[in-house]
This record gives sequence, C-alpha cells and structure tokens, in this order.
Amino acid sequence: MSIAEKLIIIDFGGQYTQLIARRVREAQVYCEILPYNTPFEEVVAAGPSALIFSGGAASVYASGSPQCDPRLYNLNIPLLGICYGMQLMAKDMGGEVVESSHQEYGRTWLNLTEKTKLLEGVDDNFIAWMSHGDQVKKAPPGFKVLVRSNNTSIAALENDTRNIYGLQFHPEVAHTPHGRMILDNFLFKICHFAGNWTIENFIETTAKEIQAEVGIQGRAVCGLSGGIDSSVAAALVQKAMGSRLTCIFVDHGLLRKGEREQVISAYRALDLDIITVDAVEEFLELLQGVTDPEEKRKIIGNHFIRVFEREALKLKGIEFLVQGTLYPDVIESGTATAEVIKSHHNVGGLPEDMQLSLIEPLKYLFKDEVRRVAAEMELPEEIVWRHPFPGPGLAVRILGEITPAKLAILREADAIIVEEIKRAGLYREIWQVFAVLPNILSVGVKGDRRTYAHTIVLRAITSQDGMTADWYPLPYDVLRTISNRLVNEISEVNRFVYDLTSKPPSTIEWE
Ligand code: XMP
Repeated sequence: MSIAEKLIIIDFGGQYTQLIARRVREAQVYCEILPYNTPFEEVVAAGPSALIFSGGAASVYASGSPQCDPRLYNLNIPLLGICYGMQLMAKDMGGEVVESSHQEYGRTWLNLTEKTKLLEGVDDNFIAWMSHGDQVKKAPPGFKVLVRSNNTSIAALENDTRNIYGLQFHPEVAHTPHGRMILDNFLFKICHFAGNWTIENFIETTAKEIQAEVGIQGRAVCGLSGGIDSSVAAALVQKAMGSRLTCIFVDHGLLRKGEREQVISAYRALDLDIITVDAVEEFLELLQGVTDPEEKRKIIGNHFIRVFEREALKLKGIEFLVQGTLYPDVIESGTATAEVIKSHHNVGGLPEDMQLSLIEPLKYLFKDEVRRVAAEMELPEEIVWRHPFPGPGLAVRILGEITPAKLAILREADAIIVEEIKRAGLYREIWQVFAVLPNILSVGVKGDRRTYAHTIVLRAITSQDGMTADWYPLPYDVLRTISNRLVNEISEVNRFVYDLTSKPPSTIEWE
C-alpha cells in the first residue's frame, strides 16, 4: 500500500504492538507493522516516514533475542523505541542495558527532568505503565535523559539531532494517562504528520491501487459470505473495476438457518454481479470422518479456493481473487513474531498451487475500521452490523465430525439464540453471539422419559477487534427464555450451558 504518510512499527514480539498501531491510526496517521526480521530493503520499499520499535519479551543481550538491521538507525527519519525497542536502540547506539534489581510492572510514578517536544504538556510528576525486567543504565553518547524513576534511572531519552527517542514506559496503554499526548507529540511535533489518513481517503487510495494492480483489462472474482469483510472488499473492488468483478457466493452447507436467502436478498441493494454456487454435498463429503479442527479448516479453505477456481474458469479470463482478509486474520495465522493460533480459512488454508492472484484490500484494517468503511460506502445496515461469522462456518462450532443431523440441530439452536438476543435489544451491543454443539450427550428426563441428548453451549462476547474478547453478562431472564426454548423446541437437546471464558485464554470460536 503506497500511502504518502506512513509510519512503520517494527515488531519485536511485544504484547502491545497491536495497540501501538491502533493508537497511531486513531491519530489518523496510517501505519503498518513489520516483523523485526523483515529485510532492510523491504522496510525501505514500504516507504516509512517514521519508525516505532515495539516492546518485546526478550533481553537485548540474550542469545537469539530479536535484533534489527543497524541501517534502520541511519534512515534519517524519526524513530521512537518503546520498552524493548528503547533498550535495543540504546544498546546499538553505545549505551548500556542491565537487568534491573527491581523489576517494574504496572503503574509507576515518573519524574520529568527535561522538557522537550516529545514530553510537551506532560506534568513534572506523572504516572505511566511499566512492564520490564531490564533497564537502560547508561544513555548512549549524544542522548539526553528526559525522565527518571526511583528504580529505573532512565525512563525516557532522546537525541533530537538524530531524531531518535526512547520511552521505557508504554504510552499506548490506557493506564498511561499522558500516553496519548506523548504519542501525539511524536507524530505531530516531531514527525510533522498531517494526520489526514481518513476512511474517505483510504477508500480513494485503495480503489486507485486496485486499478493499478489489475490494469484496464484484468477480471476478478470475489468470494462473498454475507459478512461485512467480504462485502466491503467487494464494494471497494467494484468501485475500482466495475463490471469486471464477479462475486461468488458459495453455499458450503455450513451456513446458519436461512442464511443463503438472507444474504442474497441483502445484496440486492448493492449493484453486484453475483453467482450462487451450491457446493453443499461436496463440502460435506470432504468433511466426512474429519474431527481435527485444523484439518477441518484446511479442507474447507482449500476447497473454497478450488470452487472459486472452477467458477473462475467458467467465467474465462479471471486472474484475480478478492478476499476480505483483515489484519487480525493475518496476525493470528502466524507471522515471524506471532505464533499460529489457528489457520483462518482465508489465510492459512490457501492451497500452495493457487492459480489466482490475491487482492486483499482490507488486510491492514481492524474490524472497527472496516465498519467505518462500510458506513462511508453506505452498505446496508444489515450487512454493517451483522456479527462476524467465520469462513469455515458451523464446522468450527461443531466439535468432532460434521454430519447433516448435527448441522440441523446447531442451526435451530443458533436461530433461537440470535432471535432472543435481537428481541432483547442486545444484538448490537454484543460482538458475537452464537451456539456451539460440543458433541456431548448427557442424560435427562423429558415427560417422564429418559433422554440421552445433546448439550448446546451459548457463546456471547464483547470485543473491539476479535483479538481479545470478554464474555458478555447476559441477563438471567434472557438466558432462561433461551434455555426453555432450546430444550422444548429441539427434541435432540436436553441441556444448555453458558461459556464464561475470555480470549485469552480461550478463542472466540471453539475450534
Ligand atoms: P478466534 O476464534 O480466532 O476468532 O478467537 C476471532 C474472530 O475471527 C473469526 N474467525 C474467522 N473468520 N475465517 C474467518 O473469516 C476463519 O477461519 C475464522 N476463524 C475465526 C471469529 O468468528 C472471530 O470473530
């Protein structure tokens, strides 16, 4: 993506790297995250106007700890190192980093010793969030110490001639009250960003980039799911390519009750060229006997692409495949610094010999940003506010083998739950609410008769971007209604339980 003003965050594996990105974008400055071992030439090719080095869990002197290409210090653009990022920069520039005798975690009082542009407006004594074991003991030559704490002699430093800055504390977390101000000082007073990266100009820039990528003849197909991500991706590509885009809606047999009809009807409002493919039997056949979650995901992801390729071949002259991949999908499918949690079907599940080139216009956006793009492009409310639904569909909500009978139970249960949540006026407040079939049979009694039937789990969570989530405290009366309806209306169900775990340690989906 070629954006005139761009900040690159070099990720050393810090737990707050995503948060730094969010804070930068909230200031309307476009940024991307690159892993620390990205080749120097690639970082330069990305065209940064400033760099931030993230935190990280390692110790800078430890063998195998993430290091960076020293040429990054000579790019002549502002650089801000945060926590590990500051320690690494201090070590590389001739300072000294040692293990702290007092490790600092949590809220810490700090004292300002020098007022400079970076800390303009900050009180002489202020609270900041610390989370570190090591500390910079000696500043590198040419660096001034700006902030000290009782335990960490150096909590902020700078060399304003070289435009290099370091913060031992975390300005990106909400627990650092002056954090927003310090980041803004860096972005606007030091980097002189205009801060004009808006959703509107994201739409314009992205449409132009797609045009440049596909040329005037290129044709594309887009897999539409009915969810906001693929819908926004399709709308953006349609803006760039017009009728050279054909959308394909695949019914893989893992959809919710009435979903196929609802999706088709919602898309009538958009002027998209859509083909519906009924691939129910082939998907279910491929999934027969498969119980491993990763295997299910890979089978579905692979077959999706095969179906697209087949349809694309029928359409003739298709070279591109549009996908609504988001940033969290990219990150969770594993990067140099982040571990594979699960293979999101639109990232990790792609076959290696895929014939089509990918267009992923949303791959650097978070969900809330996609919702803003959708609203700006005037997509129907029904699509904008629809809860996220995973590409592998109900397959990752049925533990163990997928069968038509289990799918039918889960569909009914899910429809009841969503209906009751909507009736209670809670649908928009909740990020995702759905039923899971854990494939557990238990003993019950219905009308004096013993039953040995399925359990339904309810998962309701709040989240900002799907990366972290908390369980939603549903009112008891709503739970009671759902419970009654599930066991009365679905003969194969005799038990209902509520999942009260956050992410982490769980994930949102059960598989
Ligand atoms: P997890 O379960 O990883 O989910 O905590 C995070 C968010 O991503 C959705 N999800 C997926 N979306 N393809 C998708 O398009 C997938 O394979 C996939 N797996 C999970 C999930 O519903 C939640 O919103």
